[in-house]
Amino acid sequence: MNDPVFLQACRGEQVSHVPVWFMRQAGRSLPEYRALRGSGSILEAISDPALASEITLQPVRRYGVDAAILFSDIVVPYHAIGFGVDVVPGRGPVIAAPFQSADDLARLRDLELADITHVTETVTLAVKELAATNTPLIGFAGAPFTVASYLVEGAPTRDFAVIKSLMHQDPVLFQLLLDRLVEITVTFLRAQVAHGARALQLFDSWAGSLTRDEYQRFALPATRRVFDAVADLGVPTILFGVGTGELLDLMSSAGSTVMGIDWHVDLDAGRRRVGHKPVQGNLDPARCLGGEALAVEAAREVLARAGRDAGHIFNLGHGVLPATDPDALAAVVQVVHDEGKAGVR
Ligand code: CP3
Repeated sequence: MNDPVFLQACRGEQVSHVPVWFMRQAGRSLPEYRALRGSGSILEAISDPALASEITLQPVRRYGVDAAILFSDIVVPYHAIGFGVDVVPGRGPVIAAPFQSADDLARLRDLELADITHVTETVTLAVKELAATNTPLIGFAGAPFTVASYLVEGAPTRDFAVIKSLMHQDPVLFQLLLDRLVEITVTFLRAQVAHGARALQLFDSWAGSLTRDEYQRFALPATRRVFDAVADLGVPTILFGVGTGELLDLMSSAGSTVMGIDWHVDLDAGRRRVGHKPVQGNLDPARCLGGEALAVEAAREVLARAGRDAGHIFNLGHGVLPATDPDALAAVVQVVHDEGKAGVR
């Protein structure tokens, strides 16, 4: 069977059409997700492989996207080692006892495969189902800095005041924290590929809160170590963050195959900033809220910016917003498949 177009585009190869998938495609914008999911923490849904696999497949069936993303969350490995994480609906990850001192390093023990059998079983089930359409599954993890921001702040934050204080007041401890997160992240990613994930995305969602100096000193080395430690697996890797326009050149040096571009940066400018490696993005998720016609118009703007160079994976510039009408995303998939001819000779 041919290599899926998504994987070809990740490697910068010529493709028959521009592949498309959506960050947060499996989630609250889908009525079938809400129907299945019920109430309770998302972590409970993730701990049920049959349910999590089904949710992973829902957007593939509905939209015919070119890749599935595992239904999971960036805090799953930390929940699995008992760090004391919950995900509060409408708010995000909340930590009962945030990371504060060297004593807390002991709470970040190595991740064992036995801790994440629910995740690897979900991967196995989803991959089996996806084989029929040769649709690749993307595995993922949070990048060390973004995960650290949750573990240290204890809850979603706007100003990143606590983590920046730790970073600058005790850089040695902060580095030790990042070292632990690198280890856990690598184990988590390798396990997903071992069970059939064919690409990996690292979400450094909040890297955009850092200055270039901070990114270079703290986030970049940790991110690079993660990519180095999965390089032998031979699967394409994607690095994504929000508000990272000023960091894209640095992020691009971390070693991913593909760079995610958020919606703040025009895709053509983003491509130049990442040294013309394959790019993923970058439709503003808010432009999908006004119905099909407006979403299609906005998608065409992104396609025009992308030009016809190979190495474009169409995506949003961040996750699908819960209020998005699925028909608008379906219309985006259609226009990308029909009109996105990047890399066609
Ligand atoms: O993309 C997908 O469809 C796969 C599933 C996925 C989820 N979380 C499921 C989820 C992925 C890739 C993530 C990654 C994730 N989780 C990130 C990185 C991506 C990004 O958005 O920048 C981050 C920062 C988190 C942490 C997190 N988990 C937040 C901020 C929230 C939102 C809280 C809310 O309710 O608005 C969550 C919860 C979460 N993770 C939901 C989903 C579908 C929604 C809550 C639910 O359904 O109960």
